[in-house]
Amino acid sequence: MESSYDLTLVNARLVSMTPNDQGYQVSSPKTLQIKSGKIVAISNSEAVSASPLKPEEQSKVVYNCKGKLVTPGLIDCHTHLIFAGNRSNEFEMRLKGVPYTEIAKQGGGILSTVHATRNATVDQLTELAVPRLTGLMQTGVTSVEVKSGYGLTLKDEIKMLRSAKALEHHAHIKVETTLLAAHAVPPEFKDNADRYIDLVCQEIIPLVAEENLASSVDVFCESIGFNLEQTEKVFQAAKQNGLHVKGHTEQLSNLGGSALTAHYSGLSVDHIEFLDSSGVEALASSNTVATLLPGAFYFLRETQLPPIELLRKHNVPMAIATDFNPGTSPFADLTMMMNMGCTLFGLTPEEALRGVTCHAAQALGHSTTRGQIKTGFDADLAIWDIPHPADLSYQVGVPRLATRIVDGVLCLGGEQS
Ligand code: NIG
Ligand code: FE
Repeated sequence: MESSYDLTLVNARLVSMTPNDQGYQVSSPKTLQIKSGKIVAISNSEAVSASPLKPEEQSKVVYNCKGKLVTPGLIDCHTHLIFAGNRSNEFEMRLKGVPYTEIAKQGGGILSTVHATRNATVDQLTELAVPRLTGLMQTGVTSVEVKSGYGLTLKDEIKMLRSAKALEHHAHIKVETTLLAAHAVPPEFKDNADRYIDLVCQEIIPLVAEENLASSVDVFCESIGFNLEQTEKVFQAAKQNGLHVKGHTEQLSNLGGSALTAHYSGLSVDHIEFLDSSGVEALASSNTVATLLPGAFYFLRETQLPPIELLRKHNVPMAIATDFNPGTSPFADLTMMMNMGCTLFGLTPEEALRGVTCHAAQALGHSTTRGQIKTGFDADLAIWDIPHPADLSYQVGVPRLATRIVDGVLCLGGEQS
């Protein structure tokens, strides 16, 4: 007889992370039934051992969690994983006192990565990203967002997005792609950023939408990126082409990009160290997530803290992501970002866990299918050898992932051992 399920987990102590829970709500041992990549039933393991499953209720694969904690698979909702080149020289310059903005003005920074990335092929870019992705998977990540933004031509932005999508063929992970053509003004348009924005709006966005290469469009709204008017043009073009919007906003100064993103029902505003109270109020009246990127804050040795208390007061959902990139956050460890979110920004470990599960899912537009352990949701899970959920924010560098499950498939391969 054909079994009804593909995978059964037994003795799983669930940390479900539904958005409205108070506390972590660690469950008693549960049995989880998984079918076609979805969680289809959750029951008490004790009840199951008292009255064993009938043959038709048994699945092909049974995994005994032996009381380990099971969280939703972690979601890294902001990365720049695809790029070529290396910027350790700039790290050294910054340590000698040259600011990030000054390096960018001298043609370094983002543009130095653009140069290297333009010279790489799709396959080379994918190959370079695989070890970065492995780092993330080892910290329990089952979904990752990957941005373009180091190509800055139609051909090279598309190349980056294709290379990001190809990552799914190299690893058990879900990849969500975002077009960030408005990341920096390319050298060819040095004195005419508006003309580049026209190219982004009239050619790059329509082609990316037509070829289904990205689900969202992002803009670096900043003095060294694009102004509010240019950002709005990009958002309008994205919306006209059926794509979500999100923003790199208020990272180095307060231009009002977060309120603009909220006005366009953006999925998230990211960085937001310089966000003010009117920006927080704009987020509170939309469904836009505030994504914190403590790795970039730390690596740039910033001092302006994001307005955590105000965000809490207005119940704005907060996500945490690695922002993995060669210039400002070369850290492929999402649990380390949880630790930094707590130590640098004052989040609680519970807020940090929401930040990489249900709130990160919302920042990717997947709040009804990912980031929680619930029937009907995707069976994306992380199983941990830890005594308490707070351990995820507490220890760094100690391997404690037992396994990940992506779309109902157990990943027992080398990537997490
Ligand atoms: O998120 N802020 C802009 N973009 C990246 C940095 C990219 C780079 O320096 O290469 C960020 O921090
Ligand atoms: Fe970023």
